[in-house]
Amino acid sequence: MTTNAQTSQGPKSAKLHARRQEAVPVGPYHVTPLYIQSAQGAIVTDVDGNELIDFAGGIGMQNIGHCHPKVVKAIQEQAAASIHSCFHVMPYESYIELAEKLNEKTPGDFKKKTMFANSGAEAVENAVKIARKATGRSAVVSFERGYHGRTLMTMSLTSKVNPYKHGFGPFAPETYKLPYPYYYRAPQGMLPEELDEQVLHHFEQFFLGEVGADHIAAIIMEPVQGEGGFIVPSTTFVQGVRRICDKYGILMIADEIQTGFARTGKLFAMENYGVAADITTMSKSIAAGMPLSAITGRAELMDAPGAGQLGGTFAGSPVACAAGLAVLDVIEEENLVERAQVIGDRMMNAFRSWQEKYDLIGDVRGLGAMVALELVRDRVTKEPAKEETGKIVTECWNNGLIGLSAGIFGNVLRFLPPLVITDEHLEKGLHILEQAIAKASK
Ligand SMILES: Cc1ncc(COP(=O)(O)O)c(C=O)c1O
Repeated sequence: MTTNAQTSQGPKSAKLHARRQEAVPVGPYHVTPLYIQSAQGAIVTDVDGNELIDFAGGIGMQNIGHCHPKVVKAIQEQAAASIHSCFHVMPYESYIELAEKLNEKTPGDFKKKTMFANSGAEAVENAVKIARKATGRSAVVSFERGYHGRTLMTMSLTSKVNPYKHGFGPFAPETYKLPYPYYYRAPQGMLPEELDEQVLHHFEQFFLGEVGADHIAAIIMEPVQGEGGFIVPSTTFVQGVRRICDKYGILMIADEIQTGFARTGKLFAMENYGVAADITTMSKSIAAGMPLSAITGRAELMDAPGAGQLGGTFAGSPVACAAGLAVLDVIEEENLVERAQVIGDRMMNAFRSWQEKYDLIGDVRGLGAMVALELVRDRVTKEPAKEETGKIVTECWNNGLIGLSAGIFGNVLRFLPPLVITDEHLEKGLHILEQAIAKASK
């Protein structure tokens, strides 16, 4: 491959970009102006023949790598047999088989049922509908810096104003936010366990001052905040949320849309905390790029809505379900859960050594292969280095590496490389990234 050569926009991408600007609104943003031709594993090739190492994985959608042969074969075979009949008209085995597997594999030692939708936001929408119907309560609580999607309900549960909410109000009623511990930005001198205690204590205040606990259907939580900047909560916090839910009969929804499918060194991130949610939402890497999402939960909750109250024309199409079944096989056959830990350890070790060299790096954090660097202009004031973060992302793709930013301040570099990435490409990607950080540090 020819990565680490200059990958500035070539003539074919430039031509497409001009057409894009004429034909497509600015709203659907993209990190690079490079137009993809093909992709395999952790390497993407643009229309001008530039090859790039992918540390973004389609924002966590390609945990098993682009165009895995097993998934391609499953999609091709299913497409040739039947593309879609609509589950509501004539159901099919792959929907049931994938549901059975997710019932078995998601955390929680209780009887579960699964339904499918098309996108992450749609999974969250359905989880909220199910929680409301099952509890007879209307309020839904999410967390500061949480991200759950772009539809009205999920945007309302999301907590980053720009770009996700600005100008799009009014938002869905009966949605509330609680704090989620951000250890790096805790008040000076406060220990993580003190922050956990403060944040958990706040719940009780909130139930007194904001909304009665007996009015709340569900608390939805990302087991690691994704868009919010890869903030990893402590086990104490996650278990504390579970305890509060149990105490007040509130359902716990784990939004595993970004953290799922081997990303964090476990099949699902909640396994890291030793507690299970009542309902789990999944999408992104579930079907390696086919539009699919899943909602898995306690059987009695999932059965609360009656026949016809849930679903959608395309939801859980046979082609997407076939891809989903192939993904689960690949994760197992290629030991990708273990591989995520190896990749994450290597990246975190590199990041920690860079932190000693570059003052720009304020914090290094992650879980498994969901890893991030928070960039600051000053390690004492922790002033967010948003501009530098953007420059590093651009410098990276200019040199053959795709990375992403995140965080409420836009100053976090986050990485979700395909877990099939070779050691050689991992090292090469890290090298490009370090060079970009070194340049921005000057
Ligand atoms: C945690 C989480 N929830 C929900 C979503 C929304 O998913 P989608 O973009 O497929 O609607 C995302 C997408 O980034 C996410 O990371």
